[in-house]
Amino acid sequence: MAAQQFDFGMIGLGVMGRNLLLNMADHGFKVIGFDKDNQKTTAFEEAANPGTTVKGVVSLQDMVSQLATPRKIMMLVPAGKPVDDVIESLLPLVQPGDIIIDGGNSHYTDTLRRVTYLQGKGLHFMGVGVSGGEQGARTGPSIMPGGDQEAYPHVQPMLEAIAAKVNGEPCVAHLGKGAAGHYVKMVHNGIEYAIMQLISESYDLLHRGAGLSNDELHQVFDTWNKGDLQSFLIEITADIFLQPDEKDSSKRLVDLILDKAGAKGTGKWTSQDAMDIGVPIPTIDMAVTMRNISSLKDERLKAAAVFNTVQGKIDTDKETFIKQVHDALYFGILMSYTQGLAMLHRASTELDMQIPLQKVVAVWRGGCIIRSTLLDLFTKIYTANPQLENLLLNEQIAGLLQDKQQNLRTVAAAAIQHNYAAGCLLAAISYFDAYRSGQLPINLLQAQRDYFGAHTYQRIDQPGTFHTIWNK
Ligand code: 6PG
Repeated sequence: MAAQQFDFGMIGLGVMGRNLLLNMADHGFKVIGFDKDNQKTTAFEEAANPGTTVKGVVSLQDMVSQLATPRKIMMLVPAGKPVDDVIESLLPLVQPGDIIIDGGNSHYTDTLRRVTYLQGKGLHFMGVGVSGGEQGARTGPSIMPGGDQEAYPHVQPMLEAIAAKVNGEPCVAHLGKGAAGHYVKMVHNGIEYAIMQLISESYDLLHRGAGLSNDELHQVFDTWNKGDLQSFLIEITADIFLQPDEKDSSKRLVDLILDKAGAKGTGKWTSQDAMDIGVPIPTIDMAVTMRNISSLKDERLKAAAVFNTVQGKIDTDKETFIKQVHDALYFGILMSYTQGLAMLHRASTELDMQIPLQKVVAVWRGGCIIRSTLLDLFTKIYTANPQLENLLLNEQIAGLLQDKQQNLRTVAAAAIQHNYAAGCLLAAISYFDAYRSGQLPINLLQAQRDYFGAHTYQRIDQPGTFHTIWNK
């Protein structure tokens, strides 16, 4: 056993792994990182602040043998097979009681499988969501651990030290049983997809629709970021409009970026799982769909020619329209959180995860991609009522939405009239209209189901289940 006993080990010194570990070292922990690539281990050591204890090694065994027991080892490697491969290579090196943490964006069902597998070998395995990108990892991410209650106290001091702080409180908490950490992170990403798409749709309407220049857009988003839309995503959007192209500084980079988005899958997983547990999250679904449509660039160009598509100028008073788009975006963003949190509420019981929603929203207040001023309000609401099924049932939220809904309708109508794709804004208002409606036309749909498939129906005037021989 080497003399130096390290407190924490990291497998994978990519952007996230390296920065999390350096963050931990800054907080006084002795850290050791493994990566096969010795350029990465060297870069890692060189980036360490003076006075911190940081070591990079290219042998996994070297790392494991220098860790204090119970060993605390996090991996930050791509989701899927690489995680299983790392686990297999660790097995001969670790001993019962050691704690293995997956800090990547793994699918929660994989995490559940790994928990059981490693439990059988006497090892602790925790799925931990980490959000905040490179900067967040280095200076304070939002951390979403779940699962193994016995192991958590061993890693809690480190996670609390490195997490973002809001009013002095660390943005990390134990978020439930089993794979709850990864589940919460998955839904975080679904909300992230929806907010990003809503911002992009708002940008389109302001830019092509109302003719705002990049400088004006910067101004608008910067102002919004000082008000009730204050959030990380609005803040970086304001910055983006000012970024010049490196080659030609007379141009703005945003205008030169191809309108075709990739995705690593977490948004899609959110939609898939919401379907599985029967929770409507149409704004998030639409955000996933819009990325898929964006990727059909060649087909879209052909279709634009077939239909001679022109996104026309929206003839409106600029200042009034900016205010209307503000309200539409606010409404859409609020609806994205609402749907994601309603999904977590259902998953908590349906998948037996026992997710404390009041802690989820508190952890999201700082460090993560979806942090925003709204999360302070949600924290108050869920602290008062952790079992709230849906934010729309809260009076304060209802008041905020009532104020904004007319402007969303106006903006949505303008988008439709002038051929703009505004799927997430439309999905937000449609969800609202359906959820707050005491009567839906599903009576007719039920009649149809019974007509062709004898699926039966219930009546409003008497109890029981009925079937009719239609059109005798
Ligand atoms: C975060 C992010 C991050 C995530 C990507 C999603 O919270 O820091 O959610 O974990 O991997 O932002 O990437 P795609 O857009 O490529 O799916």
